[in-house]
Amino acid sequence: MTKITAAITAVAGYVPEFILSNTELEKMVPTTSQWIEERTGIKERRILKGEGLGTSDMCVPAVELLLKKRGISALDIDMIIVGTVTPDFVFPATSNVICDKIGAVNAWGFDLAGGCSSFLYALATGSQFIETGKYKKVIVVGGDKMSSIMDYTDRSTCIIFGDGAGAVLLEPDTEGLGLIDSILKVDGSGRKYLHQKAGGSVKPPSHESIDAKEHYVFQDGQPVFKRAVVCMAEVSAEIMEKNKLKSEDVAWLVPHQANKRIIDATAHRMGLPQEKVMLNIQKYGNTTSATIPLCLWDYEKQMKKGDNIIISTFGAGFTWGAIYLKWAYNS
Ligand code: UT7
Repeated sequence: MTKITAAITAVAGYVPEFILSNTELEKMVPTTSQWIEERTGIKERRILKGEGLGTSDMCVPAVELLLKKRGISALDIDMIIVGTVTPDFVFPATSNVICDKIGAVNAWGFDLAGGCSSFLYALATGSQFIETGKYKKVIVVGGDKMSSIMDYTDRSTCIIFGDGAGAVLLEPDTEGLGLIDSILKVDGSGRKYLHQKAGGSVKPPSHESIDAKEHYVFQDGQPVFKRAVVCMAEVSAEIMEKNKLKSEDVAWLVPHQANKRIIDATAHRMGLPQEKVMLNIQKYGNTTSATIPLCLWDYEKQMKKGDNIIISTFGAGFTWGAIYLKWAYNS
């Protein structure tokens, strides 16, 4: 029997209009544009403004564009998996909200939380539903409204994160294109360095937790940085070795956009020149679950059918991993 692989057949993204520049942040916290750019590579990030708007309000335009590009209807969709750490609600799932808003009445789905690796985990998960042969059209979305959990008086976090969403369509392929391999990892002992202290079942919301600003992102940057540099580089090298790929065989690295210095270290370990590394951190910052699909969206025209692509992430948890895929189309 011919092996079915899950190929990405379309990609789309959405970022809010409002731009929060480094210069603007200089007026909000004790920082400088130079410090931010030198230490992270970020120049500006997008923020979703407007009462009552959440992560789904960025995912929906991304998914609608995806459907339009592929020339299919919401009714054709079997499943929507949403990688996010900022769901619209604790429950129901943002996937359910998106299905309702776009009229995907034949689909089912769920949210998947894996820190900054949420999209990578969701892509690996979604591919399984295609590979079984049971589903024909699975949408994998990565979206986060990081501004909803950001303390804009904390210079160590608010300079990094931004809002955005991206989506890919997975369809069956029998030519050997699409997802070839994945390595997924977790180390929960790292949770203390990057988390949201309150709002979950351990510490439900209370006046005290609000006063203590425990609903915002807490990050101890240095230990996260040190671990990210090692793990993202190691897992990227590991998936290359496992699949007998040399640096010249790899067309693109799609790295999670958390810090340019982490990206550079990963590319160096893989022996890749800068021209093969997707980079948009300068304009979007760290959009958590959205960084990977937003990169694919930005670089779509430059990818060619058959290109070997390595996707690599590291995030809260700790969570990390890599995916090796063969790009499935020319655009
Ligand atoms: O995507 C999820 C995973 N997250 C990551 O991968 C993020 C990993 N961490 C990082 O990217 C970096 O640790 C940061 C960008 C968050 C911070 O950069 P750093 O080079 O690790 O800085 P640091 O935390 O070691 O702080 C160095 C100095 C400190 O001052 P002192 O103690 O040396 O006087 C900080 O107070 O820089 C200071 N600092 C700042 N200065 C100006 C911290 N934030 C700022 C700021 N502007 N925004």
